[in-house]
Amino acid sequence: MAFMELFRRWAALLLVPLALAMIMPSNFSLTRWWSPSWPGLPPVVVVPGYATNELDARLTELYRPSSPRCGARKGKGWFRLYLNHAALEDPAEVPCFAEQMSSVYDAASDDYYNAVGVETSVPFFGSTRAFRYPDPDRKNFSYMDKFVSRLERIGYRDNETLFGAPYDFRYAVAPPNHPSKVGSEFFGRLKTLIETAERR
Ligand SMILES: *[C@@H]1O[C@H](CO)[C@@H](O)[C@H](O)[C@H]1NC(C)=O
Ligand SMILES: *[C@@H]1O[C@H](CO)[C@@H](O)[C@H](O)[C@H]1NC(C)=O
Ligand SMILES: *[C@@H]1O[C@H](CO)[C@@H](O)[C@H](O)[C@H]1NC(C)=O
Repeated sequence: MAFMELFRRWAALLLVPLALAMIMPSNFSLTRWWSPSWPGLPPVVVVPGYATNELDARLTELYRPSSPRCGARKGKGWFRLYLNHAALEDPAEVPCFAEQMSSVYDAASDDYYNAVGVETSVPFFGSTRAFRYPDPDRKNFSYMDKFVSRLERIGYRDNETLFGAPYDFRYAVAPPNHPSKVGSEFFGRLKTLIETAERR
């Protein structure tokens, strides 16, 4: 319980959605946007805030769990690592969550990686589904639902005019003169998504 309280406070401080990217045609002008002659809504790509979207994981044979409990999902396919309130409310699961969420610095490549044997993926890239409810089992908890609902109320449709760019928030973007493989891959996918959104 205490952990969840702390988690929520931390979340409230840090996880407030930070960045939004509104993508306009290159010849965008405000008068055109507000004018009734605009052929449709300009597409919007939403980049959710830190730790706002789902993150899936899978444990491979290389994973060396700190306890048998943490290894229970080894070899059993993808599961939702983040966000899963039910798991985080179980004190025995918290160390497993911490261990599977952690990233490891490799001095040789000057970059960060998942813990050995933990594969992660960000589901529903392209859709706001990825972050509408970070824990789909607990829909009374969301940072983005109101915002997405308001966009839908003025006519936006998911994956038609409204897009989502969830990311693996554990990895920072590359600082000057340092690599970030995960961060750079994200920007590549974001660029493609923006280009696709503009063509729709
Ligand atoms: C400006 O953008 C609109 C909407 O994408 C397009 O229909 C129009 O042809 C563009 N005009 C110019 C001058 O590029
Ligand atoms: C979005 O729509 C495209 C084209 O219809 C489809 O291929 C893609 O799977 C959809 N993506 C999501 C996340 O629903
Ligand atoms: C949200 O739902 C869960 C169970 O589904 C419940 O335990 C929790 O108290 C609810 N939170 C709020 C703020 O209503």
